[in-house]
Amino acid sequence: SPAFENDLKAAIRAIPDYPKPGIIFRDITTLLGSARAFRRAVDELVQPWAGSKIDKIAGIEARGFIIGGAIAHQLSAGFIPIRKKGKLPHKSVRIAYSLEYGIDEMEMHEDAVTPGERVILVDDLIATGGTAEGAVKLLRQMGAEVVSAVFMVDLPELGGADKLRALGVNVRTLVS
Ligand code: PRP
Ligand code: HPA
Repeated sequence: SPAFENDLKAAIRAIPDYPKPGIIFRDITTLLGSARAFRRAVDELVQPWAGSKIDKIAGIEARGFIIGGAIAHQLSAGFIPIRKKGKLPHKSVRIAYSLEYGIDEMEMHEDAVTPGERVILVDDLIATGGTAEGAVKLLRQMGAEVVSAVFMVDLPELGGADKLRALGVNVRTLVS
């Protein structure tokens, strides 16, 4: 609802000129610090899948770990960390992904997903969608069915949510 979106918006702090001049950084730590806003946001993100079988939640480092952990608990699902390269201890699969300026690589453990498992991807925010697109490709390569990708914040003018939808992914966001 609009009232709910406004409550969540008010709980997100805007930081001008971070990390660079001209960027307004949407800081969700204030939302996470509010017991009521955090619970409400998690409840709202998972509402379509309450009672359906979700095997695993894949969370994107770093803030996707926080929200993804809460969602995994809520849905009684397992959790998969998708990390920047070189951080995971076991044999991993890696994919390059595009950032606003340049590219990076992310990884997940090769045995983190069993083919056919139903997975929801989680991050705090979608901007250009490069990060989420990389994660979707990695999960699909390993045989996961990506049931949905969910984000607290969408920056719609950057086109990331539309980019994911063009890949056939169901996308859910709470605040634009
Ligand atoms: C931010 C955010 C998403 C990504 C979104 O993370 O948490 O993961 O950027 O941008 P995109 O849609 O344009 O790919 P960041 O890369 O800043 O990494 P961090 O979580 O380690 O701070
Ligand atoms: N907040 C968090 N992550 C981001 C942002 C932001 O405003 N913009 C691009 N990635």
